[in-house]
Amino acid sequence: MPERKKVKLKDKEFVIYIDQERIANRVSELGEQISRDCLGIEIHIIIVLKGAMMFASDLLKRINVPCTIETMQASSYGDAMHSSGEVHLAQIPNVTSKHVILVEDIVDTAQTMSSIVDLLHKQNPASVVVASLLSKPEMHKVKIPLRYVGFEIPPDFVVGYGMDYAEYGRNLPDIYVLDQQ
Ligand code: IMP
Ligand code: MG
Repeated sequence: MPERKKVKLKDKEFVIYIDQERIANRVSELGEQISRDCLGIEIHIIIVLKGAMMFASDLLKRINVPCTIETMQASSYGDAMHSSGEVHLAQIPNVTSKHVILVEDIVDTAQTMSSIVDLLHKQNPASVVVASLLSKPEMHKVKIPLRYVGFEIPPDFVVGYGMDYAEYGRNLPDIYVLDQQ
């Protein structure tokens, strides 16, 4: 079997998990699906920084309905690999009467997205749905309106394509998973 591509970030080794071609194909499909579903309505896309920036920039190019774009910063990580459960939001965008699509890199426990969705609902948006590149269904602790998912993955730690380990690895064009050996 050929050796799988590996990368070392700080003290940990990661192996290739989803390559850029598979990511690109799936992101195109999601963009087309969103465009079909949102035909005739104007959407407001909120990119959750920093993790979703690469996914969002590729996804947006595949969306061909009228849309406006906003960013928001959310951070939930207590240490480099485990969610703290506490979610910090820098500022909350105005979404009153808007059809919102929240773009996220990965839904793990779903607490981050749940907090954001709850906060946005206080402003009476027309609708709020979530588009996440990755989801770890076995880890979800709360229910969220997860309408678009790129890939469902097991509860393993991943990096690349926007996602980080202690802020490293966001620039990798492929997605890598922690090497368990
Ligand atoms: P949640 O609140 O537990 O769903 O965590 C969501 C946030 O934690 C995501 O937006 C990511 O920024 C981060 N996160 C969760 N799992 C991973 C992972 O496997 N790699 C990198 N970041 C992750
Ligand atoms: Mg994120």
